Amino acid sequence: MSAAPQFEPKIVAYVCNWCTYLGADLAGTARLEYPPNVRIIRLPCTGRIDFNLIIKALEVGADGVLVSGCHPGDCHYTAGNYHARRRWILFRELLDTLGIDLRRIEFAWISAAEGRKWQQVVTEFTEQTRKLGPYKELYATGAFPDVPAPETASPGAKSFAAESELREVCHKLLSEGTVKVVIGYGARGPVVVTRPEDADRLVWNNRCFSNLTAYLKRKEIKALGKAAVIVKPCDEKSLVELEKEAQFERKDAHVIGMACEGVGQPKCAHCTARTPRFVDVTLGVAAGPEPQSSPSPNRLAALMAMPPVERMAFWSDEFNRCVKCYACRQVCPMCYCERCIVDKNRPMSIDPAPSTKGNFAWHIARAFHLAGRCVGCGECSRACPAGIDLALLNISLHIAAQKNFGYEAGMDPKAEPVIGSYTLHDTEAFIR
Ligand code: FES
Repeated sequence: MSAAPQFEPKIVAYVCNWCTYLGADLAGTARLEYPPNVRIIRLPCTGRIDFNLIIKALEVGADGVLVSGCHPGDCHYTAGNYHARRRWILFRELLDTLGIDLRRIEFAWISAAEGRKWQQVVTEFTEQTRKLGPYKELYATGAFPDVPAPETASPGAKSFAAESELREVCHKLLSEGTVKVVIGYGARGPVVVTRPEDADRLVWNNRCFSNLTAYLKRKEIKALGKAAVIVKPCDEKSLVELEKEAQFERKDAHVIGMACEGVGQPKCAHCTARTPRFVDVTLGVAAGPEPQSSPSPNRLAALMAMPPVERMAFWSDEFNRCVKCYACRQVCPMCYCERCIVDKNRPMSIDPAPSTKGNFAWHIARAFHLAGRCVGCGECSRACPAGIDLALLNISLHIAAQKNFGYEAGMDPKAEPVIGSYTLHDTEAFIR
């Protein structure tokens, strides 16, 4: 009886045109032998290797993905690989949270002169992938231990002391013409007030959980003229980030900060932000320590304690409930692209259907676009009609940005954003 054929892994290699591709070519012309399992896809620079491509390769049947480009300092476009390295650091954390086996994704710097290194990397990675076997865990489903359910918001409105002061201030701002519109909270949710006599519609209570800064970027609001916006100390962080990204100019808005001791949301239990810092006026008084890190790590810790395959099953179960309503996008103060990647169909990088693949692709793209930018307002989880705790992905990236770059979104107006900047000393312990 003949032995079963040995499993031969399929490996997709995304390589930079200027270094690694030439290194692979050199290996060929030098007659260096290496396993034929690798399919090379050449791109202009590692800076152009989109994270979606890595997922796509696994999705269409690759058992491993190799990503390689020029050594630091050698990029044909000066800094493409430095930017790529920064993104890879965060992207690996996201993949790990999702339960994708990181041993199946290899990163390397291979120059045009390193044919032998190409031979060695491909040989070793092929062997490692062969030992791991076929990759069948992507989008796996199954039973998994419980991740604690998210805490729920407290029902019933209970007004806070600063409510009448808030109405007075907004009445004055509108009657004096300092602003044309106030974006605030009403009895049933966010309201836009344009007449002084309507300032009484504004409320300040334990139901004021929306992050109203999301409305500032809307064209309809901008068309009304200068706006006043009511922010809690946690919401204020999104203004800091939006200003850094040139989406908001401080002079264009009057910011009314509310001292806050929590509005009954899960995030409030862990938030130590009490008093806004960069506002035009602060109303009310709140006891408690000054702002620090706010995301809740409890559910994430429970998730990360699972083996990768169970994490994957957890997310498959969560994402299978997604109906692609995009409420998470609409409510996010940091999502402002004129045309979202998911709405583009030439080329169409994200399947718009509410299928497993399409849902994974969308939520990975959404979370990664917010890497180092998400301020932890938790609006995505709150707005999701399917009850998917999307903020967990953002929290994992938030923690990764803190751990690797000491960066916390919304805390320091002068700090350079994590994505879009780099240092020569960014960690590359995971790159060969
Ligand atoms: Fe090779 Fe940028 S050109 S990494």
